Amino acid sequence: MNAFVRPRRSVLYMPGSNARALEKARMLPADAIILDLEDAVAPDAKPQAREEVAVTLARGGFGPREVVVRVNGPDTPWFEDDLAVLATASAAGAGPDAVLIPKVGDPETLRLVGRRLEALGAPSSLGVWAMIETPIAVLRALDIALAARDPLTRLRVLVLGTNDLAKETGARILPGRAPMQAWLSHCVLAARAGGAEVLDGVWNDFRDVAGFAGECAQAADLGFDGKTLIHPSQIEPCNAAFTPPSEEITAARGLIELFDRPENAGKGVLQIEGRMYERMHADIARKRVALADAIAARP
Ligand code: COA
Ligand code: MG
Repeated sequence: MNAFVRPRRSVLYMPGSNARALEKARMLPADAIILDLEDAVAPDAKPQAREEVAVTLARGGFGPREVVVRVNGPDTPWFEDDLAVLATASAAGAGPDAVLIPKVGDPETLRLVGRRLEALGAPSSLGVWAMIETPIAVLRALDIALAARDPLTRLRVLVLGTNDLAKETGARILPGRAPMQAWLSHCVLAARAGGAEVLDGVWNDFRDVAGFAGECAQAADLGFDGKTLIHPSQIEPCNAAFTPPSEEITAARGLIELFDRPENAGKGVLQIEGRMYERMHADIARKRVALADAIAARP
């Protein structure tokens, strides 16, 4: 039951060109950090950012935080140099946990990336995350997510890029996100069908604390594993929204214990205080307890 669970509640982007942010990342309580070489870095600053990221990876010191590097896409002039930096870091034992590929629109792109990583000798521990941020990506989310079943792709996580989706579609970013909800749910479904995890997009207005809390709660309700972030102040409220509440875990442990009792061994359904519980509810409870335990075990 206790398959390895890696919490990905809070996933903070930082520009690869921002030395101060990269330095701070070692202290922040985010579950994962994304060192960005793509959207947050201007074309002229790409080589310098790549160098900063190389130095940052070599120095390490990220503790339990998962480290991800967002490279420029395979159709850009920077892609090969970006990948080479990751391969060099990996060869020195200081590689990131994953590489995030922007604007993935089809599973073939992930196979191409997988083949490049293999050719560069990247260790199998280096995973791939895929940005879903174009209309074609949302429409083909299932095909993209199913690529997670092909070990060549190393695909582990889908990451929604809601700013790019707004840009590409004309949909407005509104409180409650009615214009995008169908796409968000569709991507959660696709990720589960393929066996990948899935992270929500960012909230831009980082001084609007109440609005952000509402969007985190919505993301958790929709089934996302966590949310991508742009500012350190967003980490704690995001962690809170994606951490199973202690009352829920107490009840979950009670339910598991009840189904595990010898006298209930042959039963598929039980009632507690007028509410029906099937074995599937015990399965859900086990997953939530495993997540809570993994969170509690973090230093
Ligand atoms: N990661 C790590 N540290 C960050 C950070 C981030 N994403 N954003 C801000 N910080 C740090 C700042 O360096 C500053 O540290 P200091 O006070 O110790 O010097 C502190 O947090 C407070 O920052 P603040 O002054 O409130 O914000 P700012 O004006 O420096 O930066 C942004 C605002 C939006 C430019 C910045 O948060 C940012 O670049 N975010 C990420 C953008 C990104 O990566 N986008 C791509 C994906 S959507
Ligand atoms: Mg983008």
